[in-house]
Amino acid sequence: MQYGHFDNLNREYVIDRVDLPVSWTNYIGTGDMMGVFNHTAGGYLIYKSSEYHRITRFRPNGVPMDGPGHYIYLRDGEDGDFWSVSWQPVGKPKEHYSCHHGLGYVNYLCNYSGISASQKLYVAMDDPVEIWDLHLRNDSGRTRTLSVFSYCEFSFHQVDMDNRNFQMSLYAAGSRYEDGVIEHDLYYEEDGYQFFTSNFTPDGFDCLRDRFIGPYRTERNPLVVETGETTGSFEKGGNHCGCLKKTLTLAPGEEARLLFLLGEGGIDAGRAMREKYTPERADEDFRRLAAFWDRKLSCLQIETPNEGMNTEINLWNLYQSEINVMFSRFTSFIEVGGRVGLGYRDTAQDAMMVPHSNPEKCRSRLVELLRALTTYGYGLHLFEPRWFEPEQKQQSFKSPTVVPTPEKSRIVHGLKDACADDALWLVSSVVQFIRETGETGFLDETVTYADGGEGTVYEHLTRILDFSAREVGQNGICKGLRADWNDCLNLGGGESAMVSFLHLWALRNFVALARFLGRRDDAENYEALAGKVQKRCREVLWDEGWFIRGITADGRRIGTHADTEGRVHMESNTWAVLSGAATREQGLAAMDSVNDYLFTEYGLMLNAPCYTAPDDGIGFVTRVYPGLKENGAIFSHPNPWAWCAEALLGRGERAMKFYNALCPALQNDKIEVREAEPYSYCQFVVGRDHTAFGRARHPFMTGSSGWAYYAATQYLLGVRPDFDGMTVDPCIPGSWTEFRVTRRWRGSTYRIHVSNPEGVEKGVREILVDGKKVEKLPILPEGSACHAEVRMGKEREA
Ligand code: GLC
Repeated sequence: MQYGHFDNLNREYVIDRVDLPVSWTNYIGTGDMMGVFNHTAGGYLIYKSSEYHRITRFRPNGVPMDGPGHYIYLRDGEDGDFWSVSWQPVGKPKEHYSCHHGLGYVNYLCNYSGISASQKLYVAMDDPVEIWDLHLRNDSGRTRTLSVFSYCEFSFHQVDMDNRNFQMSLYAAGSRYEDGVIEHDLYYEEDGYQFFTSNFTPDGFDCLRDRFIGPYRTERNPLVVETGETTGSFEKGGNHCGCLKKTLTLAPGEEARLLFLLGEGGIDAGRAMREKYTPERADEDFRRLAAFWDRKLSCLQIETPNEGMNTEINLWNLYQSEINVMFSRFTSFIEVGGRVGLGYRDTAQDAMMVPHSNPEKCRSRLVELLRALTTYGYGLHLFEPRWFEPEQKQQSFKSPTVVPTPEKSRIVHGLKDACADDALWLVSSVVQFIRETGETGFLDETVTYADGGEGTVYEHLTRILDFSAREVGQNGICKGLRADWNDCLNLGGGESAMVSFLHLWALRNFVALARFLGRRDDAENYEALAGKVQKRCREVLWDEGWFIRGITADGRRIGTHADTEGRVHMESNTWAVLSGAATREQGLAAMDSVNDYLFTEYGLMLNAPCYTAPDDGIGFVTRVYPGLKENGAIFSHPNPWAWCAEALLGRGERAMKFYNALCPALQNDKIEVREAEPYSYCQFVVGRDHTAFGRARHPFMTGSSGWAYYAATQYLLGVRPDFDGMTVDPCIPGSWTEFRVTRRWRGSTYRIHVSNPEGVEKGVREILVDGKKVEKLPILPEGSACHAEVRMGKEREA
């Protein structure tokens, strides 16, 4: 069953049936102001921080579903009938509505009672101002009088205070109205102002939520809209909202356009912004928003026989990966702002995936992570980048609502709270950044450590590698510490196969870097270490058919033939191949086991069979319902690791089978099962051992996206930037006869055509760049372009 369609030409997903089983969300904003909104304009806006600076209120996990939001009501002056442009909250018959999710905006369309209306939400490019762009057209054939009411509910900035500490929040927020501007004022806070205004002179307003809604009512039937009369309310204290009213008379066929503006700052900022944001200026900003995404998307475009992959790579998968890097990661309907800062491992992985389209943000994320590394070599699992910024803004007074600055000793947690994988991801992310940008100078920059002192970026990386070399258990395998990538499987603090594999992968990337930099001693030393790690992994972790997941603190091998539950695990087997730890034979067998035990029509399950009885020696995973999350769900994030592994093994058919099973765009007609957005990878899809098999949950904020993008472009399509040239080494189904990739790299454009006349799955016979034979695509003078012909075939020519 479908609820909508991909409109790739206009770069939108169009929801034609708005009565979706769950919210389908999207993100607005490209800078400090951002918002997350669903298909009915439910959602919220924040400034810089979803925990400490919320602008509008949201009642998460609530009934009615996912509200309130940024709503516009229309009221017919003749009969008093009213509706909302975004279908909810009023909820007239659904046939009149659609929702267009675009890149950085949402457009709600409705055609009810002879009036066409659209409400587009996006954020201005240069100012922290959200624009609500309302268009109306009278299609009814007779003159109509309509009243327009805006509505959003202001939030206290700090989410906890807003939700729990009402003795504070209710008496520290006020509102007033002047010259067409509503001001929301958080009295205790220095920057505690928001404004709500419009590009027209309103006929009325309300600043008090409860006056607008009325007693025993909801957003579905607000008293003000029902009666058609605003009350002019405002007060110091209470709950506040942004309601401006305008009454219009429209002749048949006549159109009108109104802009509402919600932004940071008080009355004066509001006045300035209502001058600035004329319809022309709003249009210009919308064009700039499109150009912003154009630039990013044009860094890599593909044409392949796989329409799902084209839709993902050319549009939605990059978009989602960018959203993760830009807003990492606690702003959604699932993570509603209660958690602080950055997660070390998630951010490190996100930053690895889009250095081509967002080098600035990736670089600054890397610096944030490097600063949160301890001299001991582990990263702080969850941290607030602000803590380590060289200069911190001091608040001039002590407010009971400000962000508490924890003591250094509390910020820098000890080894017992470290996750063994966290910082290892960073090594490869930094190396990937250099491969993409060629900015080797970055490695010589000096960065502080979280617990004091400083060192170059390069030194930071060596500390990470040395840490994992030191922190091994009695079998010589890396300790899992509090956990590895799998938060729920800590092996009672035993040894993690996955972490040893990750260590090897990081070592290999680092050795390649050191060699490129001419640091021969380091290259040799770390290569020798890599050799030892590889040998240890092969000796200790192989179990005649696949690799085990780890060894518990009390010496039990987990993920073996002898296990009836948790027999085969995805993390260890995919990483055994990805890291190069496995021999070819081991790799083929391990990935066959992954296919046999873990493959389903919706993707690969994380492990199988599911755990059914608590076993704290293994970890919390044994206390999770079978088929959900880490206990045998199709956890999306590791799925691309399997595509990479199959690509390394040269099995393109298999890799694409795995790719297609998880591909959201290919599930557009299975929404009765999937339920979630088909334009977003979700954190997990319910596994085979659960009644809701195939149901996807937790969109957007997941590492699946970056990994899917990276694996598809660099391993399946095989276009991989390297220090000294671009490798093209695809692994595709034999049935593909050709595909094209346009890739921007280091300031030049590469138009790559890959042909596959012999129908192979892997192997490149010849690469011609503008007619000249090469091994790799060369680095070109900035601003140039080239055409590369890549011919696949059974063997590479000598
Ligand atoms: C969640 C966490 C991530 C972890 C994964 C598996 O996605 O954000 O850090 O790796 O779960 O447990």
